[in-house]
Amino acid sequence: MKIMLIGFGLVGQGLLQLLHDKAESLQAEQGFTPKIVAVATGSRGILYHPDGLSIPALLAAKGNPAAYKLDAERDFASALELIQCKEADVVIEVTPTNLENPAKATAHCQAAIASKKHLITANKGPIAKHYNELMSAAKSAGVEIRFEATVMAGTPCIAMGRELLSGAKIHEARGIVNGTTNYILTQMESGLSYESALKQAQELGYAETDPTADVEGWDAAAKVLILLAAFFGKQAQLSDLSVTGITGISQADIENAKAAGERYKLIASVSPEGGSVKPMRLPLSDPLAQVSGATNAISFNTDVMGNISLIGKGAGAGETGFALLADLLTIHRKLF
Ligand SMILES: NC(=O)c1ccc[n+]([C@@H]2O[C@H](COP(=O)([O-])OP(=O)(O)OC[C@H]3O[C@@H](n4cnc5c(N)ncnc54)[C@H](OP(=O)(O)O)[C@@H]3O)[C@@H](O)[C@H]2O)c1
Repeated sequence: MKIMLIGFGLVGQGLLQLLHDKAESLQAEQGFTPKIVAVATGSRGILYHPDGLSIPALLAAKGNPAAYKLDAERDFASALELIQCKEADVVIEVTPTNLENPAKATAHCQAAIASKKHLITANKGPIAKHYNELMSAAKSAGVEIRFEATVMAGTPCIAMGRELLSGAKIHEARGIVNGTTNYILTQMESGLSYESALKQAQELGYAETDPTADVEGWDAAAKVLILLAAFFGKQAQLSDLSVTGITGISQADIENAKAAGERYKLIASVSPEGGSVKPMRLPLSDPLAQVSGATNAISFNTDVMGNISLIGKGAGAGETGFALLADLLTIHRKLF
């Protein structure tokens, strides 16, 4: 399988590390022999070789094509040109998420589909904003789109809702889909102020220097758009959702909930009626109340199976790389 990696940052390198570490078992057990024919960055160049680039040499280059010392074509104006003019079976789009304006990443996705390459992405922007359009273009072109990495990283919540539960009716799915806010709420419950918990989350690399997207609920809201589309085929916009973050929750609120045997969690909900993000007080008997730190979780309420919950890591280079690997293997099983 010939793969183009558009974006060579943490997640792209996380995938390459897995392909390197698991090369033998992937070949022996699944007959999977991936070739990375191209990697592209925004500011540090592009590499292409039709027979495949060396994965160890790519890993040694640490995200910088200039540090890749082996033979490769480098003369491309942009990732878009690369996608349009070179052959590959799959394009993996792992450039930064821009929720307000995902035009560049969406153009990468559209170009992959238009040139009949399967598409895998970890990028929330194109899926949250242009799901229907991308899916219908993929259907006409006869290619697959997979996006497991966009919500809960390698914890397979998209595959669970879209594929494993496809014979059930999902009445509602409720999730903790933002690790930063769950970490902050967990630390506040053990006595830290909001400010100290946020500072700690930033020091640990969970929260960005500007934490607005996490703490105001916008990252979770983008994931709500993706889940609405994936589980209910419903394309919504951020303005259709009711979104409240955790900045209004005080230490006193947390203490009051604790005294009543409850816990605050930032809950992303989706149902056929729509979606929302809001802090909720959950009884300790709710599986989501037991999810602490930066861990993510989702609970599906279904007709046949009642409640099913999935708990796991929701971020990290290897964890997100694993979601890309799972998508690659699904495409490989289906089509190769
Ligand atoms: N990190 C996680 O835990 C995680 C979890 C789930 C989903 N995701 C999503 O996965 C994606 C990648 O995340 P990351 O952590 O790997 O980001 P990152 O470390 O910032 O890497 C982004 C990469 O994309 C490249 N890039 C930027 N603009 C580009 C363009 N126009 N054309 C080609 N390449 C371009 C960057 O190159 P330059 O450095 O040269 O600009 C860099 O190589 C994001 O959409 C993120 O939201 C990440």
